[in-house]
Amino acid sequence: MSYLSIRDLDLNGKRVFIRVDFNVPLVKNDRGEMEISSDKRIKASLPTIQYALEHGAGLVLASHLGRPKGKRNPEMSLQPVATRLAELLGRPVVMAPDCVGPEVAAMLPAPGQVLLLENLRFHPQEEKNDPEFSKQLAALCDVYVNDAFGSAHRAHASTAGMIPFVKTAAAGLLMEQELKYLGMATRNPARPCVAILGGAKVSDKIEVIANLGKIVDRLLIGGAMAYTFLKAQGLPVGKSLVEDDKLDLARSLMASLGTKLLLPLDHVVVSEIAAGAAHETVETIPDGKIAVDIGPKTIAEYAQVIAAAKTVIWNGPMGIFEKPPFDTGTVALAKAVADSGATSVVGGGDSEKAIKAAGVTSKISHVSTGGGASLEFLAGIELPGVKALER
Ligand code: 3PG
Repeated sequence: MSYLSIRDLDLNGKRVFIRVDFNVPLVKNDRGEMEISSDKRIKASLPTIQYALEHGAGLVLASHLGRPKGKRNPEMSLQPVATRLAELLGRPVVMAPDCVGPEVAAMLPAPGQVLLLENLRFHPQEEKNDPEFSKQLAALCDVYVNDAFGSAHRAHASTAGMIPFVKTAAAGLLMEQELKYLGMATRNPARPCVAILGGAKVSDKIEVIANLGKIVDRLLIGGAMAYTFLKAQGLPVGKSLVEDDKLDLARSLMASLGTKLLLPLDHVVVSEIAAGAAHETVETIPDGKIAVDIGPKTIAEYAQVIAAAKTVIWNGPMGIFEKPPFDTGTVALAKAVADSGATSVVGGGDSEKAIKAAGVTSKISHVSTGGGASLEFLAGIELPGVKALER
């Protein structure tokens, strides 16, 4: 696929609209104000923002935040993001009262200035990909840049609809980085290529398992979804989480993947799910017990496969990661990935937390900023926000 990069453009004196993904987690503080609990997504777009400013552009930044369902909601205002972005950039960021309309038109930035539009989703037309709204957004700029990989699976006005109405559209540096690593891992990976998939449900990852099954050499399964596969093989799973309506699907995936697919050999089980609950390791899950993590034999087997890999793709935890010590398997695999020296691409909030907890973030080649977007990419689905940039 061919698309322009922000680096291909002459930005000098231009007004550049950058669609960023500033959909950051917010929490209410004691004073009732909304505070950002992770500014990772703001930091991830800084290279593009700084690049455009250094090259003489005035910036109109636009994002959604949360799901306000087309209505103005002060708790989902981007104002806290404007404040944090100004701190990170070391220059003023002007907050617009809206994302379209005469007030915004009167505030458009000169070169070197930064204007952050208010939450795009305060207008229902954003998610409806309304052409009139798209035109209004397009009228704010000379050049359009999409750096919002995290929103690229949405066909909305700001991610896709406005592109036909702008003269020039290009990918930002973060978007390029995401597409480079996810593309490398899935199109022509260095081999052996290993995927590690975890999480609760097979149903959430069917397309990913089916698509990666065609690409990778080994597919390691963990997390609760493993128990749907084990039950489909006729093995006891106790009271572990199982999707009974997906047993046939699990059987057909196992039949098509054959020996590529590896399932847990042993399990950490509990009687009730709670942090620090009494637990034991078993190879056969007893009646009444719930499996909450992969056991040491599985960790050793998976770590051996990972050690030989040249490419690793990882999405989803191996157990109930948020309740220690049932993060053991996930953290052990994070270390194995880091030590493997393979090109490693990680997506999904929990796998990212595991990498942080294991202290190995700097050894991972790429941690995706997209949850849903990276899953759809791994499932082989064309992302509307990327397709729209295609030349
Ligand atoms: C995300 O956090 O995955 C993106 O910002 C997209 O948000 P959405 O799922 O509300 O469209």
